[in-house]
Amino acid sequence: MITEPRIVVVTGANRGIGREVARQCASRGNTVLLGARDLAAGERAARELQPSVRGRIRGVRLDVTDTAALAALAADVDVTEGRVDVLVNNAAVHYDTWQSAVDVDLAVVREAIETNVLGSWQATLAFLPLLRRSAHPRVVMVSSEAGSLASMGAGPPAYQVSKAALNALTRTLAGNLRRDRVLVNAVCPGWVATDMGGPGGRDVADGAASVMHAVDLPDDGPTGTFTRDGRPVPW
Ligand SMILES: NC(=O)c1ccc[n+]([C@@H]2O[C@H](COP(=O)([O-])OP(=O)(O)OC[C@H]3O[C@@H](n4cnc5c(N)ncnc54)[C@H](OP(=O)(O)O)[C@@H]3O)[C@@H](O)[C@H]2O)c1
Repeated sequence: MITEPRIVVVTGANRGIGREVARQCASRGNTVLLGARDLAAGERAARELQPSVRGRIRGVRLDVTDTAALAALAADVDVTEGRVDVLVNNAAVHYDTWQSAVDVDLAVVREAIETNVLGSWQATLAFLPLLRRSAHPRVVMVSSEAGSLASMGAGPPAYQVSKAALNALTRTLAGNLRRDRVLVNAVCPGWVATDMGGPGGRDVADGAASVMHAVDLPDDGPTGTFTRDGRPVPW
């Protein structure tokens, strides 16, 4: 049985799915560190969300590509909270539908890998000592079915290659952290109407609810899975 409040860190939470995940976590009474690479944007989102939720929300500067800043944030969270129960690696860039793998700007691919893969990786490493102090540690990788090798063909090259790598990272970390009881799972939020998803997708509340399935896994829940709305997505 997981006791609330939990300490939750969400990356890329100043807008889109990350912001809604932060809201849903805080509405249950959890303490949320709302990560934003622009601190002012993070503080503004926290201010807007705070009145409607039970838990405490604090905007924090969190750029997943900035190793030193991640270490500084983890040190700060160590002092203020003493542990982290859930890390949601949500931040991502470059749904590059404007290019193909044979006509590609590799600088865009490098940026996508830097943020979507290495950013999620180093954010996990930065918070791992604090996650190990949790009684119910969870790492959630916000991935995409676009990263599924089972259905992959032509498509946004930087995005789908980076999300496939994020899925591989999920399996690898899950394997390494299984003995430490840290559950590491990847989720697809579905097609969601955000700046990245564009108009026409489902509501951001439904996309975030898909993420919450992995946030809320019980201690005997699975690790190393890839799901949407709690149901398996082919790797
Ligand atoms: N929307 C969809 O249909 C859909 C479908 C499948 C998967 N997903 C996944 O869901 C997640 C959220 O997507 P979204 O639709 O909410 O995207 P979004 O609206 O574009 O928001 C992306 C967030 O990531 C942040 N970010 C970008 N680079 C960052 C960095 N280096 N450090 C920290 N934060 C950074 C952005 O911050 P700034 O405001 O500073 O740019 C923003 O807060 C992503 O992982 C995406 O791949 C989305």
